[in-house]
Amino acid sequence: MNPTSLIPTESANLFFPLILLLPLLFILLLTHHTSTKKQPPLPPGPSPWPIVGNLFQLGKTPHIALANLAKVHGPLMLLKIGTRPLIVGSSPEAAREILKTHNRSLSGRSISHTIRIKGSKLHNLQLVLHDECNDKWRRVKSIYKTEFFSAKVLESQVEMRERKIRELVRYIGLKEDGQVRAVKIKEVVTFTAINIVSCALVSRDFVDLEGRGVGEGLMENVRRFAESAAKPQLGDMFGVLSWWDLQGMYKELMGIFGRVCGIWVGMVEEKRDRQDGALGGRDFADALIQSGFSDDQINALFMELFSAGIESTSATTEWALTELMRNPESMEKLREELSKEITGDIIKESDLPNLPYLDACLKETLRLHPPGPLLLPHRAIEECQVMGYTIPKDSQILVNMWAIARDPKLWDDPLSFKPERFLSTGMDYMGTDFEYFPFGSGRRFCPGQPLASRVVPVIIASLIHNFDWVLPGNIDPAQINMTDKLDMTMLKQEPLCAIPVSRRETMKL
Ligand code: HEM
Repeated sequence: MNPTSLIPTESANLFFPLILLLPLLFILLLTHHTSTKKQPPLPPGPSPWPIVGNLFQLGKTPHIALANLAKVHGPLMLLKIGTRPLIVGSSPEAAREILKTHNRSLSGRSISHTIRIKGSKLHNLQLVLHDECNDKWRRVKSIYKTEFFSAKVLESQVEMRERKIRELVRYIGLKEDGQVRAVKIKEVVTFTAINIVSCALVSRDFVDLEGRGVGEGLMENVRRFAESAAKPQLGDMFGVLSWWDLQGMYKELMGIFGRVCGIWVGMVEEKRDRQDGALGGRDFADALIQSGFSDDQINALFMELFSAGIESTSATTEWALTELMRNPESMEKLREELSKEITGDIIKESDLPNLPYLDACLKETLRLHPPGPLLLPHRAIEECQVMGYTIPKDSQILVNMWAIARDPKLWDDPLSFKPERFLSTGMDYMGTDFEYFPFGSGRRFCPGQPLASRVVPVIIASLIHNFDWVLPGNIDPAQINMTDKLDMTMLKQEPLCAIPVSRRETMKL
């Protein structure tokens, strides 16, 4: 008997196509099932609140809050800022996965929608802080490498940098009415760093060591720009709102950007008018003009170099001096090394290879007080899988270098300042070791590292070699408040203000 004869004719018409479709349906169901099964879960994390997500759990010291959350939720966490996923890596393994294994997928930058508004002048700020590592980004990286941070260019500017540091030491040694005076360390080092960068950019000092000059207020404006750009933006938290500038941020950022660029636009214009072949010494502005960069692009690059390079230098110096004052044994060892190796009052960059303890002091300072404790926010340009979890496309990615560098499982007595730990490890700044990477690692590795590794140790050594430092009112340095705050950079909440007592009868600077 034909089994189909039992089926009414209309149904029989449908029966055969269905039979034919069954294998297809089966395959579809199977692939759907296996793909859902294969898709790893999202990383664990604290439950988000409605609308704001975990925003209020981060507070003013997000590196500390996130380190505490990682103790509960593990080394790879998912939080939500509004509706946007935020992934946080807090172990060497997570750092390696993010900064090395999946570096291509996770090296985008997370840039506020306000800056991304197409056609706006702020759009050009994406040059290096570019949201993707594309050709435009590669062009900027390459000109940085050849014309700003190459060994050849840095070597040609040694004399300028050493002169700026001598000016700083001379200024610190000045007495007011025959009296020594307290010095705000971060402030004076900031002015020195501004001039080192401005001389490399346009061959001009921007400020004197009181902060007066064409560049007066530069860092206040750069800081305000970074603060405003980093403020939680509705458009960033809720993608659907990103077409509107609901908080009026674009106008505010444009105002600050215009004021900052006003410092150098005339200087760049003058250079552009004189570009009839290289005249005399070539600075970075000349190189950019000759390579066809527009004024808007030059403004964006300069703004970025001042934002990234100044406070990181001055904050590191301030933390180093503070730690050395609080740790007299380390201070003594450093002084001994300097007295043995340095004959006059001047420290030169060429002395650095002979000063291993100085190098260890700087490394230890950057372990405890990295200027970028969470690096700069990265972005997932595509979905990927990390440590068995799915990282959604467009997630913001942070790596908590601060937490890793203080992890008691990785570091002996991690909260103490012990430069000796670096004397025998061979750890360097290059980001190849995922227990210690204060300059980041991979594609977004800090391009300023070659400059910072020359300037910062020479400044620290010059301050220690030429002066004893005491606190006003002869307060015991052990009482110094070490609380930090995270602005553009991780800063000492209470700036160090100390009295320099010259260690020489006369300084030959
Ligand atoms: C002690 C000094 C410094 C430290 C510890 C430091 C650290 C860092 C870190 C952690 C990053 C982010 C890496 C990432 O997101 O993966 C970064 C990026 C950057 N730094 Fe530095 N930095 C220092 C000095 C400088 C200096 C002196 C300059 C230039 C004058 C500079 C220019 C930059 C730039 C342009 C970026 C962005 C790179 C990009 O997005 O591709 N930095 N730095």
